[in-house]
Amino acid sequence: MATYAVTGSASGMGRAAAERLRAAGHTVIGVDLRDAEVVADLSTPEGRQAAASGVLEAAGGRLDGAVLAAGVGPTPGKDRPRLIMQINYFGVVELLEAWRPALASAGNAKVVVVASNSTTTVPVVPHRTVRALLAKDADRALRPLRKFGKAAPSIAYAGSKIGVARWVRRMAITRDWAGAGIRLNAIAPGAIMTPLLQKQLDTPSEAKAVNAFPVPIGGFGEPEDLAAWMEFMLSERADFLCGSVIFVDGGSDAYFRADDWPGAVPVAGLPRYLWRFARFKRSNG
Ligand code: NAI
Repeated sequence: MATYAVTGSASGMGRAAAERLRAAGHTVIGVDLRDAEVVADLSTPEGRQAAASGVLEAAGGRLDGAVLAAGVGPTPGKDRPRLIMQINYFGVVELLEAWRPALASAGNAKVVVVASNSTTTVPVVPHRTVRALLAKDADRALRPLRKFGKAAPSIAYAGSKIGVARWVRRMAITRDWAGAGIRLNAIAPGAIMTPLLQKQLDTPSEAKAVNAFPVPIGGFGEPEDLAAWMEFMLSERADFLCGSVIFVDGGSDAYFRADDWPGAVPVAGLPRYLWRFARFKRSNG
């Protein structure tokens, strides 16, 4: 039986994932603000450090996998964008960096980062914000968001999720991660009926946008269904999954972006493509 760390284990999708893994006989070390094995606040560097070391201690230095589900939604508020960046981006990346050696010890560990379909369905998220997050500069990431006024939390939310999804794809294929046998992937849910979504539905301005959002299948997803996807992504059946972002969103991503991806590398991208090809051959013999 395996040992998994699950952040956001006290509610919603994190809770459903933790319950499902425990029911299958695994050990789960939950991380949350309350009702968790490791109680820590992921919105501060000190809290993230406490969460990282608390889990490593409880796991005895070896982790078979992790689900990074702690997060906050885009509800209104002046300080919300900063909080969103701290929890949704740094609360994933800093923990995974600290846990990487313990994950590598397991041999074929699996990690599921909970991103969002806002990564592809929220428009005009500044590239500068995403670039700054990937460079670990929260202040610089927040600067371009000022001009969005009341929409800043939504743009910050999508930016934080694009940031973690890109981080997952960049890291997943490296020697430190794939090379260490760690399968790093993300899941991108659409609107899932959890307390986070309920909060949005209880905010009249937000509710309008949520209810008007195109979902070809209709309705909202259930946390238990997403937990089943996560359990699968942690299982041996997912050994060949690496650097993927799995959309489970009732079709919204396909509705907005059907022709954007997949797509061939354009002629202008060939030099970079060939360079990657040669680099892989060099470093893998
Ligand atoms: P939720 O609100 O039910 O659960 C989130 C958990 O994160 C809570 O237990 C909360 O206490 C914890 N958390 C929040 N701030 C924290 C902090 N500073 N330190 C430690 N823990 C903290 O939300 P839900 O919906 O289950 O969300 C899980 C993940 O899924 C989040 O990352 C969210 O952004 C993402 N997501 C949710 C969608 C939805 O429609 N519910 C859609 C797409 C993505």
